[in-house]
Amino acid sequence: MNDLAARVRRAVPADREAVLELWWLLAAEGHRADPRYRMQADAREAVEDVVDGWFSPSTLTSVWVAETDRLVGFVAVRPAELHPLLDRPPTLLLTDAVVDPSARRGGVGRSLVRAVREHALANGFISIEVGTLARDARALAFWRAMGFGDWRVTLESPADRR
Ligand SMILES: CC(C)(COP(=O)(O)OP(=O)(O)OC[C@H]1O[C@@H](n2cnc3c(N)ncnc32)[C@H](O)[C@@H]1OP(=O)(O)O)[C@@H](O)C(=O)NCCC(=O)NCCS
Repeated sequence: MNDLAARVRRAVPADREAVLELWWLLAAEGHRADPRYRMQADAREAVEDVVDGWFSPSTLTSVWVAETDRLVGFVAVRPAELHPLLDRPPTLLLTDAVVDPSARRGGVGRSLVRAVREHALANGFISIEVGTLARDARALAFWRAMGFGDWRVTLESPADRR
């Protein structure tokens, strides 16, 4: 692995714009991997609200950023809502992760996941879950390389299919 000298730290409000920009990059990459994954035309404001929420004092979401001379990636997690009847351990849900294309394959994603694991262990979370697009081979390869294995799967069909 070619380790890029990226520093991983908790996000601060001054990171808002860069995180937003990376968030839209993540959405665009999802769409590229599977065109069914697309944002509503008027989602911009709602997305800004979500990201602003991450920086509010009452947020349950924790965000880490990776920076070189600029922000090149981020990861966001929050406690997973556990199924009321399943016997599952305290779980962190990894909701977003993205690295700028110019910084990929340099270990930045790995460093962000490492920060999440340390946070999980320090806060009593036994498990970490992430969902991704089944058709996103790169994302799947990354998560598997990070030690994630199959757990649940969402299947989809057009309602009018016979
Ligand atoms: C997935 C993503 C976060 C990986 O970030 P990254 O910084 O390039 O990842 P790393 O360099 O830390 O890679 C760690 C390991 O993951 C695997 N991996 C990463 N990218 C890969 C790719 N394109 N193809 C195959 N394996 C890959 C490799 O095993 C890699 O180790 P190696 O480089 O020593 O072989 C980045 O490609 C990205 O932002 N993609 C678009 C958004 C996305 O898919 N996010 C996740 C969906 S929730």
